[in-house]
Amino acid sequence: MKSYLNLVNGEWKGTSQTITIKEPATGKELGTVPAMEEKEIEEVMQSARQAQKEWQALAVVERAQILHQAAQLLKKEAVEIGTLLSKEIAKSRAASIQEVERTADLIAYTAEEGCRMEGQILEGGSFSKKDQNKIAFVHKEAMGVVLAIAPFNYPVNLAASKIAPALIGGNTVVFKTPTQGAISGLQLARIFHEAGVPAGVLNTVTGRGSVIGDALVTHPEVDAINFTGSTEIGTHIAELAGMKPCIMELGGKDAALVLEDADLENAAKEIVAGAFQYSGQRCTAIKRVFVTEKNADALVAAIQKEMETLSVGLPEENADITPLIDRFVADHIEFLIEDALLKGAVAKTKYQRERNLIWPMLLDQVTVDMDLAWEEPFGPVLPILRVKDVEEMIRLANASEYGLQSAIFTNNYPLAMEIGKALKVGTVHMNHRTQRGADHFPFLGIKNSGLGVQGIKYSIDAMMRMKSFVFER
Ligand code: NAP
Ligand code: G3H
Repeated sequence: MKSYLNLVNGEWKGTSQTITIKEPATGKELGTVPAMEEKEIEEVMQSARQAQKEWQALAVVERAQILHQAAQLLKKEAVEIGTLLSKEIAKSRAASIQEVERTADLIAYTAEEGCRMEGQILEGGSFSKKDQNKIAFVHKEAMGVVLAIAPFNYPVNLAASKIAPALIGGNTVVFKTPTQGAISGLQLARIFHEAGVPAGVLNTVTGRGSVIGDALVTHPEVDAINFTGSTEIGTHIAELAGMKPCIMELGGKDAALVLEDADLENAAKEIVAGAFQYSGQRCTAIKRVFVTEKNADALVAAIQKEMETLSVGLPEENADITPLIDRFVADHIEFLIEDALLKGAVAKTKYQRERNLIWPMLLDQVTVDMDLAWEEPFGPVLPILRVKDVEEMIRLANASEYGLQSAIFTNNYPLAMEIGKALKVGTVHMNHRTQRGADHFPFLGIKNSGLGVQGIKYSIDAMMRMKSFVFER
C-alpha cells in the first residue's frame, strides 16, 4: 500500500499518524495519507506566508506560464489520475478522467483570464466640483494566504477551481484536502509542484476536518477562506472566520419545474441525467420535480422509462450508479425513502440496496410533510411533487432553505423568464438539467447554498482586494 505525503514548503512530508483511505466500492485499501495535527499546521502556515511576497512580485504572465505548464501536465496524466480518483471516490472511470481533463482546461483558462485583469481610473469631478482635481487609480492586489477546502465529490476539480484563481492573483495557498479524496487532491498538488510552483506557494494539509478544521480556519496567517462542502460545515466555518472574507459553495435542493407545454421527452431525459449523474452526489443535482396533474402521469412514465437506461455497478465498469461515498450517506437516504413511503409516497421503482450501493429510486406523490421534499439526500433518489399550478411551483421552490439552481421546462420563454426572476436561486437553466458549467459562467448559491460568486473570472476577483491610489493634479 502506498504512503502519500503532504507538500510543505516545497518538500514531501509525512507525520507520525496516518489515515488509511479505502475504496468505497470494494473496501480495498488504496493508500495512506498523513493525519496532520494542530502543532504541524504552524509550519505550513509560515511557509505560505513567507513565500507570498515573492510570488506576488512576479509578473502575472510569469505566474500564468506556470499554471499553463500545470494544465499541460495534468492533461498528460488525466488517465492515471482519473483512474485513481475513480477508485478513491467511486465515480465512474470515464467521469473521473473527464473531471481531470475539465480541471486542466479550467487551470489554462484561469491563467489566460488572469492576464486580462484590469485596474480602473476614476475622475473625482464626476462626483463633486471640489474633487475635480482628484483622480483615483484602483488597483487589485492579492489577499495573502488563502485556505482552500474542497469536498469529496470533486476532489481535483473543486480544489483547482480555488487554487488556480488564488495563485494567478498572487496569493499563496494552504489546501485542505477532503479526507476521502485526499490521494487525488495530493496528485493535483504534485502536478503544480512539478510545473514549477515555488516552495511554499502551494501547501497541502491532510487530516480529518473535525480534528484540524477549526485550527486551520482560525489561524491568524489565513487571510481568506474558499470552501465547498455541506451547509452545516460551511456555516460553522463562517461563524468561526469572523472578519476573514469567505467564499462558500454549499448544499442545494435544485428543482425542475415542468410546465404544461413542456416537451416531456426532453424534460425526462434532462431530469434523469441531472438527478442521477454520479449517483446524485452533486450539489447541482436535480433533487425535486414539480409538475401539475395534467402532465404528471405522462412525465412520471417518461422518467421511469429513461431510468431503465441507467446502469448500476462498479466505477471501473463506467456504471451510471455506483456505490455511495460511505454507508452513513446510504443510511440517510434509506431513512428519507422509508419516511416518504410511510407518509404515502408511491414507489415507481423497486428499492434495492447492497452495502452502500442504492439502486436509482423514483418516488411519486411526495408531499411537503415528508423530509424528502426538503432535505438534500446526496444520493440516487428523485421525488415528484404534484402541484396545482405554476404559482405553487414557485412558492414551494422558494420555500426551501437552499437557493442554488433551478431548471424550467417550457417553450414559453417570456413566461420562463418571469418565473426565473421570481426564483430565489443563483442560476436558472432553460430546458436543461442544472449544472455548474461552463466553468467561466458565474456560479453562486443564495440563502443556505452559499456566499459569493465563483466562475473563473469571478473567482479571481474574489481572491483579490481593491486598493485605491488617489492623486491630486
Ligand atoms: P463536508 O462534510 O462539509 O466536507 C467538506 C470539506 O470540509 C472536507 O474537506 C472536510 O474535511 C472539511 N471539513 C470538515 N469539517 C471541517 C471544519 N470544522 N473546518 C474546516 N473544514 C472542515 O462536505 P462533503 O461531504 O465533502 O461534500 C458534500 C456536501 O458538499 C453536500 O452538501 C454538497 O451539496 C456540498 N457541495 C456543494 C457544492 C457547491 O458548489 N455548492 C459543490 C460540491 C459539494 P474531511 O473530509 O476531513 O471531513
Ligand atoms: O457538486 C457540486 C459541483 O459544483 C457540481 O458541479 O454541476 O459540474 O457536476 P457539476
